[in-house]
Amino acid sequence: MPKLTIEGIGEFEVSEGTRLVNALEDLGGEPLHRCGGYARCTTCQVEFLHGEPEEMTEAEKTKLESQKNLGKFRLSCQCTVDHDMHVKVLMPFSESGLDDPGKRPEDHITP
Ligand code: FES
Repeated sequence: MPKLTIEGIGEFEVSEGTRLVNALEDLGGEPLHRCGGYARCTTCQVEFLHGEPEEMTEAEKTKLESQKNLGKFRLSCQCTVDHDMHVKVLMPFSESGLDDPGKRPEDHITP
């Protein structure tokens, strides 16, 4: 199983193919996911310290390009854990001042 390291939280073994945003949610990484995982809100943003996926969904690319954020961060709702990776959650729920992180994204990548 691939190893997911969450900056400031710890190292975990994660089932291959797990949607990154949900792995972070389940392991205490506290990602926001305000649009429910549809590449619309960018609140699920992460920085890859190691193991950034080379592939990117069209939805993620379009969103990041439209906001001139391509190369600045990645959307954890558009990534799956299929190899070892080390990420930092950039907008943790507990620092957001929001009442809830957003509807839980589906298990598979959407849209
Ligand atoms: S862009 Fe909204 S949850 Fe990922």
